[in-house]
Amino acid sequence: MDLIRDAAIDPAPLAGKRVAIIGYGNQGRAQSLNLHDSGIDVVVGLRGSSGSRNEVEAAGIDTALLEDAVRLADVVMMLAPDEIHAALYQEIAPSLREGAALGFSHGLSVRFGFIEPRADLDVFLVAPKGPGTALRSLYQQGKGMIALWAVEQDATGQARDIALAYGRAIGCARAGLIASSFAEEAEADLFNEQAVVWGGVPELLVAGFETLVAGGISPEVALLECVGELKLIADLIDERGIAGMREVISNTAEFGALLGGTRIIDDTVRTRMTEVLAEVRAGRFAEALRREEAEGYPKLEKSREEGRTTLLEQTFRKIREAEA
Ligand SMILES: NC(=O)c1ccc[n+]([C@@H]2O[C@H](COP(=O)([O-])OP(=O)(O)OC[C@H]3O[C@@H](n4cnc5c(N)ncnc54)[C@H](OP(=O)(O)O)[C@@H]3O)[C@@H](O)[C@H]2O)c1
Repeated sequence: MDLIRDAAIDPAPLAGKRVAIIGYGNQGRAQSLNLHDSGIDVVVGLRGSSGSRNEVEAAGIDTALLEDAVRLADVVMMLAPDEIHAALYQEIAPSLREGAALGFSHGLSVRFGFIEPRADLDVFLVAPKGPGTALRSLYQQGKGMIALWAVEQDATGQARDIALAYGRAIGCARAGLIASSFAEEAEADLFNEQAVVWGGVPELLVAGFETLVAGGISPEVALLECVGELKLIADLIDERGIAGMREVISNTAEFGALLGGTRIIDDTVRTRMTEVLAEVRAGRFAEALRREEAEGYPKLEKSREEGRTTLLEQTFRKIREAEA
């Protein structure tokens, strides 16, 4: 594994450089604050209508309208939602300096052609493997979040050094930067979102909860069993790996997992996982995401609305309120 840490990275490529962060959402906020605390000259580029201006300035960070932020920057980091990157790039491209570096925290928009960066630009990826909230809190604790890094285009001969210095400045190299590519990061991330942690696991929890309730178990007990124990197993796997987790659970749980796990996650699941990966690689998910944005996010809105009122959510809120 090609993993690089702080000590092996020269911070100089960012010294005296101005970094424009486009977007002050989940990642934009965390990366701006971490860069600022690392002594980097940061400006946050915002739309005229943005409600984030006061919050950014209260943190002691400069703001500017998108074009102005980009015009003055040596490094421009695209931290707005992926599905608007094509339009956003069209808007900022005329203001990008010749030989500037364009950075991403997800490979999607380059891998699937939303953006075809100008030939004079360095194009790099530093993709923290977790949410911005955790990226910020780990940095504040003197720790870091592991990240993937890659260079797609090295116009100046400096792209690698800028990418590594950037990963160091946002704190990720305290944990480690792992070499990857835009394609590998994008494909693996999109696959995981659909098939494993963000798509598969929550649906498994819902299916388990609904099966128990349909079988006459109370919603409270079903929730505690099927949803409430997720954090416990996640922490154990995080600390010890899957085999290590199994060492510290009861024989009953371990034997049950042995019989049931492969019965539920069988070859038909693996077949559908392979289909998901093929669809991701063919660009079908990226296209669907663009369409969803163009149509005003109808599927996401519907799913959010329906998700708030399910029996599982009502039971979750009831238990949380009782615990408070
Ligand atoms: N979420 C995560 O923790 C995470 C983890 C790893 C990688 N990533 C990657 O990081 C990138 C950012 O994701 P995110 O989840 O942090 O995004 P996000 O929270 O949805 O970003 C919201 C920000 O984007 C700005 N924005 C939206 N549309 C814009 C436009 N047309 N022009 C300019 N700014 C616009 C918003 O500005 P306003 O203030 O004007 O609304 C807001 O500041 C993505 O590439 C994502 O894949 C995210």
